[in-house]
Amino acid sequence: MPLVTSKEMFKKAYEGGYAIGAFNVNNMEIIQGITEAAKLENAPLILQVSKGARAYAKHVYLMKMIEAAIADTDLPIVVHLDHGPDFETCKSCIDGGFTSVMIDGSHLPFEENIAQTKKVVEYAHDHGVVVEAELGRLAGVEDEVKVSAEDSSYTQPDEVVEFATRTGCDSLAIAIGTSHGAFKFKGEPKLRFDILEEVSKRLPGFPIVLHGASSVIPEYVDMINQYGGNMPGAQGVPEAMLRQAASMAVCKINIDSDLRLAFTGEVRKHFAEHPDHFDPRQYLSDARDGIRGMVRHKIVNVLGCNGKA
Ligand code: G3H
Ligand code: 13P
Ligand code: ZN
Repeated sequence: MPLVTSKEMFKKAYEGGYAIGAFNVNNMEIIQGITEAAKLENAPLILQVSKGARAYAKHVYLMKMIEAAIADTDLPIVVHLDHGPDFETCKSCIDGGFTSVMIDGSHLPFEENIAQTKKVVEYAHDHGVVVEAELGRLAGVEDEVKVSAEDSSYTQPDEVVEFATRTGCDSLAIAIGTSHGAFKFKGEPKLRFDILEEVSKRLPGFPIVLHGASSVIPEYVDMINQYGGNMPGAQGVPEAMLRQAASMAVCKINIDSDLRLAFTGEVRKHFAEHPDHFDPRQYLSDARDGIRGMVRHKIVNVLGCNGKA
């Protein structure tokens, strides 16, 4: 099966009341853990690559490993640019075989976000590639994406129809209170489902994307803390809230931090239990197994896309 776009996937997910997992990939063990889980659950999949991931692993390595994953699993897989910062990066990914790109103009004034997104959409659509855009701004920190709580802002439902119509984007990421990273809420988690509801009323049938949607699985935070790490106060989006979002207009749920936590937790545990090990295959196998188990759990218990490939 060749790489696919998310067009059909999102249509089925919207109608079926479930979501597709979009998992960030940076190396072979992460790609294998995720795709093996999807194969076991017969789930459609989005593998996403950030600017930082391209700098770390190189575009060509990631692309070839994803092609290998498709040959190995025969699953419908989308390869997506996460948080594309500008037209040039989106163009480079489109020219380099990605089937989906995000142009993240969420930090720009409304008109500039529209102009930049429209330019990417025109180039992408000419090449059979779909585009995710963003309105509203999530807080949080990850390598290439840093937004303070003061600079974050909820999506304004009044703006979404004009934005989607004028840009021609295929899906829209919105800000309803999630944030990037492992420290999402101080105190009780709250999401603005009223905004999601309003957006979906104004854009019926239109796929919505949720960034910053790791649940920061407590078992992995505990494992990291138990084996020498230090992550007090780490907290994610409760799984029940993610299931609710998936049953509404949210068709794509972005997960990176949970992969990092599973990988790091397993490696820390491995070294604590086997201080004499120095063959990378020993501890990286544990990391890959952890990711496989964690992603299966997401597919079945959070996203609901098992059996939908
Ligand atoms: O939202 C950002 C993604 O988790 C990618 O993070 O830029 O550290 O690769 P990164
Ligand atoms: P998390 O940090 O919650 O995993 O979010 C990842 C994300 O939104 C990638 O774009
Ligand atoms: Zn994101």
